[in-house]
Amino acid sequence: MPKLLVVVASTRPGRIGPVVADWFLARAKDHAGFDVEVADLAELNLPMMDEPHHPRLKRYEHEHTKNWSAIVESADAFVFVMPEYNYTFTAPLKNAIDYLHGEWAYKPVGFVSYGGLSGGLRAVQSLKGVVTTLNMFPLAASVALPFVPSLITDGALHPNELTEGSAKTMLDELLKVSAALQTLRQ
Ligand SMILES: Cc1cc2nc3c(=O)[nH]c(=O)nc-3n(C[C@H](O)[C@H](O)[C@H](O)COP(=O)(O)O)c2cc1C
Repeated sequence: MPKLLVVVASTRPGRIGPVVADWFLARAKDHAGFDVEVADLAELNLPMMDEPHHPRLKRYEHEHTKNWSAIVESADAFVFVMPEYNYTFTAPLKNAIDYLHGEWAYKPVGFVSYGGLSGGLRAVQSLKGVVTTLNMFPLAASVALPFVPSLITDGALHPNELTEGSAKTMLDELLKVSAALQTLRQ
């Protein structure tokens, strides 16, 4: 079974990233097409990029990089659970991406974005330029959660049926594209 890595892209105390991620993880487990793993960037706690060599060389000097490299290398597909900060993606997410290079390549990435009015869509659009540089394949199908605090009751996310449907569509697309890209990864 292909492995899906769900990356939680916010790290601040009191963040709602894990609430959104828990909702999506339950959908991913119900979908049953992937082995699902989580990388919470707060727990991973990567320092600001401190490797001396370009990541395409894979000459990593630090244990935290080798560990992160192994996690990303082992994945066949990604979902970034990401808020919008100042109209773009979070600094910890960009930092975590920049640490590596080939580990990301020829793998699809889907987005569960959240925020205020935009539902994080501006952050997703700006991230597409980054991920395509690394030969990741961003999906058009995605999940956007506008006014996300209004969707949380009793510590759990309760989106509407359309959003539930978009999570299923994105997971189906991830599976399809990840299988097709397998050839390029060999
Ligand atoms: C530094 C910062 C900048 C933000 N900028 C935006 C923004 O540009 N657009 C938006 O919709 N929400 C913005 N927000 C609101 C966040 O979307 C909202 O606080 C969300 O809960 C943040 O995700 P987190 O709780 O996982 O950190 C911002 C929040 C923070 C902390």
